[in-house]
Amino acid sequence: MTIAPHTLPPPPIENDVLPQASPDEAFLARLALRRSTKVAHLTAPGPDNDTLDAILRLAARVPDHGKLGPWRFIILSGDGRRSYGAKVAALLSDRGQVKDAERLALEEARFLRAPVVVAVVFSPVESPKVPEWEQVLSAGAVCYNLLLAANGFGFGGCWLSEWVAYDRDALALLGLTPQEKLAGLLYLGTPTQAPLERPRPSASSRITQWQP
Ligand SMILES: Cc1cc2nc3c(=O)[nH]c(=O)nc-3n(C[C@H](O)[C@H](O)[C@H](O)COP(=O)(O)O)c2cc1C
Repeated sequence: MTIAPHTLPPPPIENDVLPQASPDEAFLARLALRRSTKVAHLTAPGPDNDTLDAILRLAARVPDHGKLGPWRFIILSGDGRRSYGAKVAALLSDRGQVKDAERLALEEARFLRAPVVVAVVFSPVESPKVPEWEQVLSAGAVCYNLLLAANGFGFGGCWLSEWVAYDRDALALLGLTPQEKLAGLLYLGTPTQAPLERPRPSASSRITQWQP
């Protein structure tokens, strides 16, 4: 089953009355069993333009102290994935960092591993009130919300950083300013197989009751 993005409620405007929180079994089951999809298990099709638009709109509905919106999206799809891959491969080659043709071919194909890759960019906003740390947390919430929204439309997703996220030259080629950071590369596509549960840090061993 596919879900057409226009069946979503229209974006609410300020002071619209929104639904109150209410018990929702399907929503909780989704959270209880949610998993990322490995990039190796993502294939075409990815979300079309309207669906991706809806996914990004939903992703951006996150808590955000000061309403600063300290994030933006750069979409890599179609040939853009190959072009950017060719640029990062050329970067490694020009630096003399990678000479092996096989590795360079892998770098060229890095962003072809999924039909759509969304770079979530952390764009800090100068604020006398909101520490940058809180803005970082909001950008992280955008990444996770993006995964959930993609899942809701039936797409699998994986949040990766890899070396590109920490290489200022690669980030400049992507279009980031020196002040910006990459919160994540969100690989989206159709899952080829059901995910298996992974080992998880237990929540219960990390819960304590504060004692005075
Ligand atoms: C900020 C961030 C960056 C990540 N970068 C990588 C990465 O570069 N390579 C990798 O194999 N996994 C990376 N991961 C982990 C994957 O997203 C991993 O598959 C995910 O934690 C699976 O968890 P889930 O199934 O509960 O969604 C990253 C996770 C986060 C939150």
